[in-house]
Amino acid sequence: MSQAIDKDRELIASDIQQYLKSHQYKTLLRFITCGSVDDGKSTVIGRLLYESKMLFEDQLEALEADSKKVGTQGGDLDFALLVDGLAAEREQGITIDVAYRFFATDKRKFIVADTPGHEQYTRNMVTGASTADVAVILIDARKGVLTQTRRHSFLVSLIGIRHVVLAINKMDLMDYSEKTFNSIVEDYREFAKQIGLTDITAIPLSALKGDNMLEPSERTPWYHGPTLMGYLETVQVNQDRLQSLPFRLPVQWVNRPNLDFRGFAGTIASGSIKPGDRIRIQPSGRESKVARIVTYDGDLDKAIAGQSITLTLADEVDISRGDVISTIDAPAEVADQFESTLVWMHDEAMMPGRSYLLKIGTKTVTATVTEIKHKVNVNTMEHLAAKKLDLNEIGICNLSLDRPIAFDAYKDNPDTGGYIIIDRITNNTVGAGLLNFALRRSQNIHMQHVDVNKEVRSTAKGQKASVLWFTGLSGAGKSTIANLVEKKLHASGRHTYLLDGDNVRHGLNKDLGFTDADRVENIRRVAEVSKLMVDAGLITLVSFISPFRSERRMARNLVAEGEFIEVYIDTPLSIAEERDPKGLYKKARRGELKNFTGIDSPYEAPENPEIHIDTTSLTPEQAADRIIAALQGMGVVG
Ligand code: ADX
Repeated sequence: MSQAIDKDRELIASDIQQYLKSHQYKTLLRFITCGSVDDGKSTVIGRLLYESKMLFEDQLEALEADSKKVGTQGGDLDFALLVDGLAAEREQGITIDVAYRFFATDKRKFIVADTPGHEQYTRNMVTGASTADVAVILIDARKGVLTQTRRHSFLVSLIGIRHVVLAINKMDLMDYSEKTFNSIVEDYREFAKQIGLTDITAIPLSALKGDNMLEPSERTPWYHGPTLMGYLETVQVNQDRLQSLPFRLPVQWVNRPNLDFRGFAGTIASGSIKPGDRIRIQPSGRESKVARIVTYDGDLDKAIAGQSITLTLADEVDISRGDVISTIDAPAEVADQFESTLVWMHDEAMMPGRSYLLKIGTKTVTATVTEIKHKVNVNTMEHLAAKKLDLNEIGICNLSLDRPIAFDAYKDNPDTGGYIIIDRITNNTVGAGLLNFALRRSQNIHMQHVDVNKEVRSTAKGQKASVLWFTGLSGAGKSTIANLVEKKLHASGRHTYLLDGDNVRHGLNKDLGFTDADRVENIRRVAEVSKLMVDAGLITLVSFISPFRSERRMARNLVAEGEFIEVYIDTPLSIAEERDPKGLYKKARRGELKNFTGIDSPYEAPENPEIHIDTTSLTPEQAADRIIAALQGMGVVG
């Protein structure tokens, strides 16, 4: 088996180009398969590869041997072994998470994006597979249309794949029943209508036995439609779709080998370009003209979507990675607030107010969901209110970025309108989405310039405006110590303000509870308030459990470097619980108080707090003195 894997990998890595060249005259069809291994996805792909003679002799031998070893298929070749072998390899982290498989028949060449797990699959659909012409949606004839089928179909419709094959597999296990087939098709069509999928071709299959894969099966005499391969070979595709869109070049890097040459390199996402064309650099809006189109094989008179090129321009203009070059007649839009359709792909829910990295084209920015307008029940297409998005949920959200980007609505251009969300710490892709439109609001709200600013105000007070952010378990002593610190600062003539969880939760945040989502919003608001107070020149003391690193980092990033001082009031859970000043731990242990920090809700201790107070060895008074001394050391107070 490992030999087969190696060979397959070799093929994917190096022979592709040569292979594609040898089939240059044929049209290319890109498709994706939606479904799980259980539905027979691997068997379908395996058989297509097998029948198109894209397997090597040694792979075939290995396949036959493995099929015998497994021995569950009654002498049939187990095509799934071929594909699953690669999936297993991927799980060990050896190869990439999306494998593009290439095969060809006399009529066409094909690329199928094969993705092992659901997560990668969703990401691939929303980003790479946006250019797929056809989606093959697999259904296990024994199970019919499942929630997963509906979710995949909804995604297919969202990303704009127009042709759908409903591949009803494992018909052999249902005695090739026409009735079963028809009832699944009817069920599916009903649903498909709601999401606007109209071009649906349903095919009864047994990928394992080969029924209706390449040859019409005698076991389904009632079926008169195409075979799967027949369909894939003949479905009409629009090869030039991307080429007919306006020109977009997301700049991957600036190539400046010497002072005489400055080129902007990237892969053309859409449209075409010629020397002499007038262009606009976005988001900055500066304009220039294309001087040369440089490639490894020499200069070009014209370049089109999909080509990797380097542009040189007539003028010296400032361009950096992540900028988009458009032609002047049809530029992209620029905005920092959007309505967007977001698919969440991570176990840890998406919370409004939390900050994530958003990657669109070659640009990465910081993004926050400001509001979930609704999520969608993929079975009924119902709109539901939501405070968070859990794994696999799809929501319509408002997004706010930390700076403007060039973009197109996804429906106009999948490449400049689709994005992924990346977790800041793990670097994993945790979501993927489509930009629907810019919220005009963002273009109409401008920051007011004011002359009496933070510096003027804090200088007048003889202090450095800052946030003292106290974090720790309930009962750790945050409020007690923060109170003492404020008293001492006040006594020495400083201007301060103390924001305390218990108090703020009675006013500004009285609509919030203690779910993860509410805590995120609680901290977001307090962080914004503390930012305003810093702007007012105050030493702002914030005393909240603030259990999540992510929100504390967000609060830190809201103010200037050096203005955020994290004070970790470190009290072990056992001691906080023993003190239990409000009797809440006891209540929580009795199960009368849900989501209590430290009991059934997590606390993420700071990793590098500016000030670390171990309350097991200090009295509150000593702790406060220690903090004042540290503030003097940092120049916050003189
Ligand atoms: S935070 O997690 O959102 O930062 P915050 O500091 O505002 O919490 O509020 C914590 C205070 O609320 C606690 O000191 C306690 O008095 C009270 N409280 C009530 N329910 C809970 C709970 N489930 N978890 C933690 N604190 C709670």
